[in-house]
Amino acid sequence: MTKTETQNIPLLDIHAQDAPIKDRILKKIHDMFDKKQFINGPEVSELEDKLKNYCETQFSVGVSSGSDALIISLMALNIGHHDEVITTPFSFFATAGSIARVGAKPVFCDIDPKTFNIDPLNIEEKITENTKAIMPVHLFGQCADMDPIIEIAKKYNLYIIEDAAQAIGSSYNTNSTQIKKAGNLGTIGCFSFFPSKNLGGCGDGGAVTTNDEELYQKLKSLRMHGETQRYHHKFIGGNFRLDTLQAGILSIKLDYLNKQHEGRMKNAEYYNKHLHPSVIKPFINEKCTSIFNQYTLQSKDRDTLKSYLTDHTIGNNIYYPIPLHLQECFHYLNHKEGDFPYAEKAAKEVLSIPVFSELSTDQLDYVIHHINHFHDA
Ligand SMILES: Cc1ncc(COP(=O)(O)O)c(C=O)c1O
Repeated sequence: MTKTETQNIPLLDIHAQDAPIKDRILKKIHDMFDKKQFINGPEVSELEDKLKNYCETQFSVGVSSGSDALIISLMALNIGHHDEVITTPFSFFATAGSIARVGAKPVFCDIDPKTFNIDPLNIEEKITENTKAIMPVHLFGQCADMDPIIEIAKKYNLYIIEDAAQAIGSSYNTNSTQIKKAGNLGTIGCFSFFPSKNLGGCGDGGAVTTNDEELYQKLKSLRMHGETQRYHHKFIGGNFRLDTLQAGILSIKLDYLNKQHEGRMKNAEYYNKHLHPSVIKPFINEKCTSIFNQYTLQSKDRDTLKSYLTDHTIGNNIYYPIPLHLQECFHYLNHKEGDFPYAEKAAKEVLSIPVFSELSTDQLDYVIHHINHFHDA
């Protein structure tokens, strides 16, 4: 196939990802269907064991989604009315949405324009007597710059809730030269198993990780309406359980996750090498290893590039077109355009292109050819 022959390349091909493990998954679903332990079946704790080992934390709790992972974490830390949580305005809605859902105030802090993650230099000035936690997001698969965040959290006695929804398996080399995984860098780590994540289920799912046993027990209780023993409710929790079926599927997929990461990293490297030098490619902090949940370009002419790629049947998407402080539902926070210039710039300029593990060299070359051609024109 030549580079110019039309190809249809999706942003993500889950068919290709699942094909080699489809039989194993279908057999597992069949077995789980026969066993009928649909709620809290053994597959849930099996997955939790695998996840805590994978994330190198002491504990892990499966929950119903990444959004619920954030909410249950805030609840476990007693964060609610009159409390403030500092976070990034450049993320998926659930980040700030979860803070507002528990009655707390999302306090935005602008991003580092290169990594798109919260800029720790902006955090300290946002701290008030009501600040309870910092919620950094490890966007697109790269950890936020955690060392200074950890330092600030220690100084002001704040919790860190990592929104690691997009970053399972990514790592950060801390000042103590200890390489730590996402979800093991704060008080609680939150993960999403939405199907487009590197570890994606066949529906919704999520998990939290922690090294604090008391929190772990509380998180387990909160996902069961705050029960400590049957029909005894110590807390007001909710139904935040992860389905047994999802857990069984995810447990199989977790066995292949590192291979998925490797494929994505290899593709990212290929893009880095072959995309024209004038193309603004993802910037990876030297302390981080990204799992490339997204490979995100930046272009002043983003909308034209987007149409151009779409016309050439190359999947692409804007994550995220509207920064959170400008969302209609957050008008009550009284933000206006100009408040967080780097987040606003990113929202206007970012474009994610296919980076999934199963892309062939032909497909990568086709994408590269068109992006380079667009930049030459
Ligand atoms: C950064 C971030 N936070 C939270 C979530 C919420 O996860 P879920 O869709 O599983 O509820 C997502 C998922 O898209 C996300 O990307």
